[in-house]
Amino acid sequence: MNRELQKIITIDGPAGAGKSTLARKLAHSLVWIYLDTGALYRALALTAARRRVDQSDYEAAEALARSLNITAQPRPEGTAIMVDGEDVTGLLRSPEVSRDASIISACPGVRLALLGLQRSLGAKGEVVAEGRDMGTVVFPGAGLKFFLHASPEARARRRYQELAGQTENLTRAEVLKDILARDLADESRAVSPLKAAPDALTIDTTNLDIDEVLKVMVKAFRNKFLP
Ligand code: DC
Repeated sequence: MNRELQKIITIDGPAGAGKSTLARKLAHSLVWIYLDTGALYRALALTAARRRVDQSDYEAAEALARSLNITAQPRPEGTAIMVDGEDVTGLLRSPEVSRDASIISACPGVRLALLGLQRSLGAKGEVVAEGRDMGTVVFPGAGLKFFLHASPEARARRRYQELAGQTENLTRAEVLKDILARDLADESRAVSPLKAAPDALTIDTTNLDIDEVLKVMVKAFRNKFLP
């Protein structure tokens, strides 16, 4: 096994389980790189919407994914994404893009098109990679894997708080409905469905705050990497 590949921590789980915040904080505390792979699917979904490409048309979605020059620049606060030279990072968090990303990410050809880029971003190691299939498909040899989950209500509450300042006329019920729809789409897709890797440490974050989860993660890191 490639030793550098071992120096990867994967964090998978459904929307709102705390992945982004924890991946960012864990990477910061280890002085490793934080990689948000959802941003890649979001950038593709945004571009498809702009070009009126049907997100559920697998052939068109794959052709689009292969035609674009998508580059990612991991930064401490998040992953910056350029599509054909345009920085789209600030446009990726809207509810529309979230919905579209869940649809377009079910396309097997799209997942394959983004696989090489994700692996190249982890190639040097010391990366905390966050997504849905980090531990199962993209970095199966990662040295440490986490799977975070929480009740749908807790996840909707967090997402609502995050979006409330940015999106007008948004209700908590709508956010919960979106979360449940995304869970179903992410878990039931044929390729790379959202599921825990068999060797992942699963953490239920429903009743834990961020620092409590971070503590569990850092302890697991120490046990694994600094025995
Ligand atoms: O983590 P996120 O909410 O930014 O992800 C947006 C969508 O992208 C999500 O619905 C599922 C998809 N995704 C995926 O299929 N695989 C990943 N590794 C990351 C995200």
